[in-house]
Amino acid sequence: MANTEELQHTTPLRKEIAVDKTRGLWITRRDLLSLSGWIAFFVFLGISILSTIRFFFPRVLFESAPVFKAGFPDEYALGEVSSKYLKSKQVWVVHEEEGFYALSAVCTHLGCTPRWLETENKFKCPCHGSGFHLSGINFEGPAPRPLERVKITLNENGELVVDKSVKFLYERGEWGKPGSFLKKI
Ligand code: FES
Repeated sequence: MANTEELQHTTPLRKEIAVDKTRGLWITRRDLLSLSGWIAFFVFLGISILSTIRFFFPRVLFESAPVFKAGFPDEYALGEVSSKYLKSKQVWVVHEEEGFYALSAVCTHLGCTPRWLETENKFKCPCHGSGFHLSGINFEGPAPRPLERVKITLNENGELVVDKSVKFLYERGEWGKPGSFLKKI
């Protein structure tokens, strides 16, 4: 009874608090609004801080070193298309009668990684079906030009050294240049 009389003579806000008190609630509507305001502020602040931190650590794609040793020539069987460095370097090392060459495993259509199909004696791109002969020359599908060859030489220890940063393009007549093919002595 006392409570009802009190409520009749108080302002709306006090009424609200008083009602809340009578219900045993601890948080008023105003508190709740204020609290959600603070939560929104801290969420915004957190997101801003995280974005700033990310700015200082940009996403960088670390590429493997373009020059690498590919073992000794006698580690490759005659006629072998070696996929030993396919995953790590995206290069095939091919051993043919005359010598060695290294092919870049990047499809000249849109950059997918073709597969070597031994039984069909060709490289086949799984993305849009381009096909390349053992030499790297394209013969089917949308690829507009042959696979690229990369530099292959021997170092002073007699090991094969591949340098992906030096490319030889068939369409520019570069497959005859030194480094595009390693002749057996
Ligand atoms: Fe190889 Fe399209 S990316 S055929």
